[in-house]
Amino acid sequence: MDAESSAKRVFERLDALYSLGTGRAANRPGGSEAEQQACELAAGWMESAGLEVDWDPAGNVVGRLLGSQPDLPEVWTGSHLDSVPAGGKFDGALGVVCGLEAVASAGVCGRTLAVVVFRDEERGCVGSRAFVERGPLPGRFVEVHVEQGPVLERAEAPLGVVTGIVGYTRREVVFEGAAGHAGTTPMAARDDALSKAAEFILRVRDSTAGIEGAVATVGSLEVEPGAANVIPGRVQLSVDARAPDVQRLDRLLEALGLDPEPRNPPAVMDESVRTVLRAEIERLGLPALELPSGAGHDAGVLASAGVETGMLFVRSLNAGASHSPDELTSEEDVGLAIEVLAAALRRLAG
Ligand code: HGY
Ligand code: MN
Ligand code: MN
Repeated sequence: MDAESSAKRVFERLDALYSLGTGRAANRPGGSEAEQQACELAAGWMESAGLEVDWDPAGNVVGRLLGSQPDLPEVWTGSHLDSVPAGGKFDGALGVVCGLEAVASAGVCGRTLAVVVFRDEERGCVGSRAFVERGPLPGRFVEVHVEQGPVLERAEAPLGVVTGIVGYTRREVVFEGAAGHAGTTPMAARDDALSKAAEFILRVRDSTAGIEGAVATVGSLEVEPGAANVIPGRVQLSVDARAPDVQRLDRLLEALGLDPEPRNPPAVMDESVRTVLRAEIERLGLPALELPSGAGHDAGVLASAGVETGMLFVRSLNAGASHSPDELTSEEDVGLAIEVLAAALRRLAG
């Protein structure tokens, strides 16, 4: 495989995806026209690579390269094409376009190989959850993703193997108050929903103290009625809470005064897939660093559904910037990821 031209094509395709949607940076929200256009673009690339393309009822797109023993459980790779608002060029999209290159490079194996686009990952892995409900599940799944953190850059390692994916939950919390006149209502007589929300937001910031590896974020907030001269009567905000294991996630939710359920338990990556990924990285003479993922991924959904799953991280530059236009990796590292993924798929698909 010519890794250099493969990586070049990946960057050209990432640029094409990045230009979809409107506004600054990547704007392909789950369920949007831009996400649909991205999936259609990817389906076209799959077809021109000679793959058999199917769309499932949830809108997930699967491109298959039939194996010589098509009755064996399939081996999949892939990721998502939706993005956060004003997101980066690589989150999700890198795993899809690299997966396509690696499947094409691996060629026909015993098991069928496939590259998949899961829909609407950012709002809670909507497409992959619908997929695992319906099945049939692949025998193995490997997702390539930018690290979205600083570990590989600090370690000067182009690639890393994921050990596990953080446990997390997202909630909407509502604070009720009493809307009123900002000028005539005495301070002592107010029931200000935004003041109550503000106290909670500081509690979210302070809640992770003493819980190693826990993180908690308020990312969105709506104030009603939302006028400068009206005391807020209602506030709705989001809480994103994460921790490396269920015990610490439960401690965090308790500290926030939130119910323990629903939550996504941490997902463990499959030892045999990790071993293959590490071996293929070392075969290129590179350090095979292992690290946990603080970000959620479709791979976590498949792993929790019992699929032997692994993740290959590609070094994030810019100190791991992600969910922002500063998200960056290099063509060289992407070329290495495609080589490792193609070799790993060949080994896993036998
Ligand atoms: O939020 C996450 O961890 C992922 O980017 N969906
Ligand atoms: Mn992602
Ligand atoms: Mn993301």
